[in-house]
Amino acid sequence: MTKILYSICVLLHLGHFTTGQIHLEAPQRLGPYNVDPDSITVSGFSSGGSMATQFQFSYSTLIKGAGIFSAYGPYLSGYDGFEAFQTSIKYPNLVNMSNLLQRIVDFSSSHKIDDIMNLNGSRVYIIGGSKDIVVNQGSLRLASTVYSIFGANVLTQFSIPAGHGIPVTNGRGGPCTSQINLSAGYLNECGFNSVFQMFSWLFDNTVPLSVGTQPTGKLIPFTQSDFINGSSYELTRAFRGNGYIYVPSACQIESRVSCRLHVVFRECISGPEFPDHSDVEQKLIAQYAEVADLNNIVVLYPAMEYVMLSTTTNTGQRELACWDNYGYTGQSTFATKQGAQASIVYRMIQRVLGKF
Ligand SMILES: *[C@@H]1O[C@H](CO)[C@@H](O)[C@H](O)[C@H]1NC(C)=O
Ligand SMILES: *[C@@H]1O[C@H](CO)[C@@H](O)[C@H](O)[C@H]1NC(C)=O
Ligand SMILES: *[C@@H]1O[C@H](CO)[C@@H](O)[C@H](O)[C@H]1NC(C)=O
Ligand SMILES: *[C@@H]1O[C@H](CO)[C@@H](O)[C@H](O)[C@H]1NC(C)=O
Repeated sequence: MTKILYSICVLLHLGHFTTGQIHLEAPQRLGPYNVDPDSITVSGFSSGGSMATQFQFSYSTLIKGAGIFSAYGPYLSGYDGFEAFQTSIKYPNLVNMSNLLQRIVDFSSSHKIDDIMNLNGSRVYIIGGSKDIVVNQGSLRLASTVYSIFGANVLTQFSIPAGHGIPVTNGRGGPCTSQINLSAGYLNECGFNSVFQMFSWLFDNTVPLSVGTQPTGKLIPFTQSDFINGSSYELTRAFRGNGYIYVPSACQIESRVSCRLHVVFRECISGPEFPDHSDVEQKLIAQYAEVADLNNIVVLYPAMEYVMLSTTTNTGQRELACWDNYGYTGQSTFATKQGAQASIVYRMIQRVLGKF
């Protein structure tokens, strides 16, 4: 797989309608880019969606908007552990909302997370398929309620008959009703481009795609060990591989064009380092790249490392390279600014801004 990744250009298998290439560079140190520090947004699917929420609430001074795709419920829904996490996914009506809201306010006033008032007016896009059997749409409605209570401007999309996947419309995905379709890179062909709808909501004046657009930027692997402070074995292992940054041609290093930065938290069983499916991985990267090229958005992909161990309920999420959404890292700070995973990604963003 390494050989494939490091060849100069990778031929992507983009389903039966389209074929294209993303120019892949050799691994290098993550560099600073000319990005507007007031334009940083995040998104993610499934576990990545929950991480996007955690990250936005934690660093709301920095993060101006979020796209939440089929996440596991509202911020802090897994704070009390695996059972609470499961309840929020399957039985959202059992989530104790007053408890959850109080906790968020407490975290804000004790500075475990940035001032919750920053969410007021921020843009948030939330999507969950009506055929999703992994996450109850009610969980995403709760997420929307929580955001609205703190004044976020939320666009919800609950009418697409998608399974647990990211609705797209260009031939890259599997069937619309697929659940966790790994071989399709979790993209579901639903005649609807949710990635584009998200960006149109997060940014004013998003340039629409034209038919047959192919990515023209560069995908650059970078060493994630730069961002680990060495505090724990668990964490160095989780980020041992490369992360990736997609840079549109207008945003290359030394560009004078001011670009935006968007961070994508990948779902479980993913990351470009995942064994034997780098081509599949790049479907999602291409999906974002189409919009990113036309709108000068640099896209950062931190990658959790897949760990080949036998899975058990409590640690299985880590082993499948999921983000920590219920405390599997054993840190009570996991969903806050001090959480190790969040801290590492924060440092990556600082590097892109030229401050780390
Ligand atoms: C919700 O949690 C609060 C404590 O934060 C508790 O007082 C209340 O009884 C709980 N509600 C339910 C329905 O369990
Ligand atoms: C958000 O800000 C507006 C205008 O400053 C204010 O009227 C409103 O009460 C705020 N909402 C929340 C939830 O704090
Ligand atoms: C997953 O998507 C592929 C196309 O990429 C399709 O051939 C396959 O049937 C799908 N699997 C399921 C279980 O839907
Ligand atoms: C390393 O980062 C963690 C958060 O991931 C933080 O709690 C810890 O204090 C840091 N340690 C050092 C030595 O900087």
